[in-house]
Amino acid sequence: MPLVSEPISVERDAPIPTWFGVGGRADRLARPATIDELRRCAESDPALRVLGDGANLLVDDGGVGELVVVLGGEFAAVRWEEEKAQIAKRKAQTVLVGAAVKLPKLIVEAGRRGLGGLEGLGGIPASVGGAAVMNAGGRFGQIGDAVARVHAVDRSGGLHAIERDEIEFGYRRSGLDGLILTSVELRLTPGDPAALRERLRDVMAYKKSTQPLADRSAGCAFRNPTLTRDLEGIGRRGERVSAGRLIDRAGCKGLRVGGAEVSPAHGNFLVAHAGGAARDVIALMEQVRRRVADAFGVALEREVVVWSRES
Ligand code: EPU
Repeated sequence: MPLVSEPISVERDAPIPTWFGVGGRADRLARPATIDELRRCAESDPALRVLGDGANLLVDDGGVGELVVVLGGEFAAVRWEEEKAQIAKRKAQTVLVGAAVKLPKLIVEAGRRGLGGLEGLGGIPASVGGAAVMNAGGRFGQIGDAVARVHAVDRSGGLHAIERDEIEFGYRRSGLDGLILTSVELRLTPGDPAALRERLRDVMAYKKSTQPLADRSAGCAFRNPTLTRDLEGIGRRGERVSAGRLIDRAGCKGLRVGGAEVSPAHGNFLVAHAGGAARDVIALMEQVRRRVADAFGVALEREVVVWSRES
């Protein structure tokens, strides 16, 4: 038998940090810092899983067997180069952002440099790569609106540059799921730093007043559904409505399974308390789905990504 070499240094039985703060571990975890290292990871395990900021992820208590990849090094850098000349001309600027860059930090740094367009995404914890793949956003905008091009590696190690008009951005989707994003080119527009800061503050204030941002959760657990019939007090047929409102109206706020609870602040936030387990959150999701189906005939779909040995 030929010897199979390890891709790069691989950690065994490594924790997978997520915002839920519960769940299992990775049998194998690698931290590629360059495209070459990432390609070697893909070659060694084409089924690898990419861990972004762990903000929209629930790992089952049994953990996962595939190689888990945490991008670092060159994937955590931002190239602002043309900035001054472009801003002086008051032109939009394309900034090349590594997939591992944290979205909240990027928004603040861009604003400080007088570059706007991302403030509506304030309060969304994510890596830029993860945010692009799921077209993260909310009522104040979605990241897809600012994406000019993405760069990615496929599971055979092939390199891709994908133009905006080839990307199928939709509600919390991009169609880029199978790819491993390495960087994202974002089109930002010049703006007054003080005004950008003010806008970001407004967005954050709305989030803080409606969402339990300090609790351990993955943000919204379910996608906002499109109604297939009119629902009194909720919305009309064809309208996309708040899953949080449906969960709230179905009387689920405060519902608990073990250490998991439906947040009393926002129905679509499932919170994991100390001592909770991933199976509590999964069971709670099921209960919420059932109650909303019984109350309104609406089938909620998960927004949170679940990793397990089976999926
Ligand atoms: N509402 C309730 N009860 C609740 C929650 C909401 O009655 O428990 C009502 C609110 O009062 C409001 C309406 O429902 O009138 C909409 O609520 P909200 O503004 O919170 O928006 P949402 O549709 O529930 C979406 C995104 C959030 C994003 C917010 C704000 C989804 C699944 N959710 O929530 O995104 O932060 O808009 O922009 O698309 C996420 O994706 O993880 C997430 C948190």
